[in-house]
Amino acid sequence: MEKNKKVVLSGIRPTGDLHLGNYFGALANYIKMQDEYNCYFMVADLHSLTTHPDTAELKKNVFGVLAIYLACGLDPQKVSLYCQSQLRQTGELYLYLNMMSYKGELEKTVTFKEKARQHPDNINAGLLTYPVLMATDILIHRALYVPVGKDQEQHLEMTRTFANRFNHRYGEVFPAPYAFNFNKELIKVPGLNGEGKMSKSTNESATIFLTDEDEAIRKKIKKAKTDSGPTEPNSIKPDYIENLFQLMNLVSAPNAVIAYNEKFNNAAIRYGEMKEQLAEDMVQFVAPIRQKIKDIANDESYLIRVIKDGAEKASESAEKTLGEVRRAIGVNYTG
Ligand code: TYM
Repeated sequence: MEKNKKVVLSGIRPTGDLHLGNYFGALANYIKMQDEYNCYFMVADLHSLTTHPDTAELKKNVFGVLAIYLACGLDPQKVSLYCQSQLRQTGELYLYLNMMSYKGELEKTVTFKEKARQHPDNINAGLLTYPVLMATDILIHRALYVPVGKDQEQHLEMTRTFANRFNHRYGEVFPAPYAFNFNKELIKVPGLNGEGKMSKSTNESATIFLTDEDEAIRKKIKKAKTDSGPTEPNSIKPDYIENLFQLMNLVSAPNAVIAYNEKFNNAAIRYGEMKEQLAEDMVQFVAPIRQKIKDIANDESYLIRVIKDGAEKASESAEKTLGEVRRAIGVNYTG
């Protein structure tokens, strides 16, 4: 890893197939960052244990995310690709950071409240300290930039709080990291139904997965809610129409988006036609990624090699940070 490059870290939980939100919120930025920065990208398997205690599918899912990283274009020669649980220093830094994060601030986290509502029978301490583990992932490499979607913004704010608190208490060890997107704004890819964000766990029919077959994509888009169209020129788009335009923006040619916007503004749009165009553009976008995922996922020995190498590189960087952390706190009694 080159010394003078800025450090980047990010990760994705192996809790289900990855979708267009993961791609445009996170992966697309990872790929663009790999030449310019010192990048660490991991599969956040420990985070998945906070809500998915059943580990029967865990290995398959970890390798699935890894295959997607590679299929989308991450080059293991340039970046460190590893699995969170394999970086043993994580446990130690997490423990120190837990000593300086407070119950009140953790309970206020939006994702904690949301997940506690979704899993009322399993509100475990790991769920409460989820942002501390995420801060650990970032601070362990002293990363500056964290490519994530909008839903992770609050976690980044908390990471900065923990880093500043540590520096204030024990001396300067951590830089303050920031959420990153090449388009400046963090993005939220909407679901096909126009309700909230596209997500791994809620409403499969509103989510386009990177592993979806052509016909599945066409069917989902065909079923997306529309209406009979605006009755007046320059109307405001309802959420369930706005989302289709946003998705088109991501995968279609700019000309197509302009043309459909004009039709909408002239109250002359036919949504059936627009959805057909969106479906074909989506198929064109997803099909080559899907094929590469399949090819790579079949090569388990390659995947094992990649995460072993990645863990080695990550461990070197983590050990350096932990050395400074132990010294700063004063738990290095033997020199
Ligand atoms: P996860 O697995 O929920 O999501 C992975 C990444 O995908 C982004 N994302 C979206 N972006 C835009 N629109 C959407 N609809 C959408 N859905 C998901 C997320 O913002 C994220 O960037 N806590 C993290 C995993 C993690 C992590 C980290 C990330 C663990 N440690 C350290 C960064 C740094 C998570 O649950 O991601």
